[in-house]
Amino acid sequence: MATYDDIVGLRTVRRFQKRPVSDKDLASVLEAARWTGSAKNLQLWSFIVVDDPEQKARLVETGSFMTPVINAPMAIALVRMEGGYDFDTGRVAQNLMLAADAIGLGSCPVTLHDDAAARAVLQLPDSAYCRYAVALGYENKQAEKEARREQRSRIPVGRKPLDELVHRNHWNG
Ligand SMILES: Cc1cc2nc3c(=O)[nH]c(=O)nc-3n(C[C@H](O)[C@H](O)[C@H](O)COP(=O)(O)O)c2cc1C
Repeated sequence: MATYDDIVGLRTVRRFQKRPVSDKDLASVLEAARWTGSAKNLQLWSFIVVDDPEQKARLVETGSFMTPVINAPMAIALVRMEGGYDFDTGRVAQNLMLAADAIGLGSCPVTLHDDAAARAVLQLPDSAYCRYAVALGYENKQAEKEARREQRSRIPVGRKPLDELVHRNHWNG
């Protein structure tokens, strides 16, 4: 049940402590990402760890809602290589974030809305594409709690009920 509870309980973290992510914790998170299953086990992904402050600031300019990256000591850009599937990128992101949570790290997915800017900042080859990154760090629990309280009216929390989401056998079921 512990794993189930962790999956159901995973929430985004957008406020982080200043301290850097330890090499050991980073390695654990990347190892979990590496073991994600992908279509035909092609593993058409790469991970760009962005922890240089100047490079992180450049990455921030590529998205519209980058508070998590501004606050985090690091972000991991999820690169989809040519022929790779978005489904695989989503799986790798979720595994990475669940693994991070399991070892005491907070995370938040972010969108790099400006494709061209992301390509330039990350110096991607033509065969690579990056639309998403994950902000990563140790949660600042107090700041996160306060921010969540303030945001309650703007960002919907919770989830839709299952009876809105689940159909049986066909759309009208
Ligand atoms: C594909 C995707 C893109 C996202 N992009 C951003 C983003 O750019 N900035 C941000 O702060 N959160 C982003 N999020 C986080 C969502 O806002 C978050 O998953 C949602 O509000 C649920 O949060 P909760 O699990 O804490 O309730 C993104 C999430 C996903 C799945």
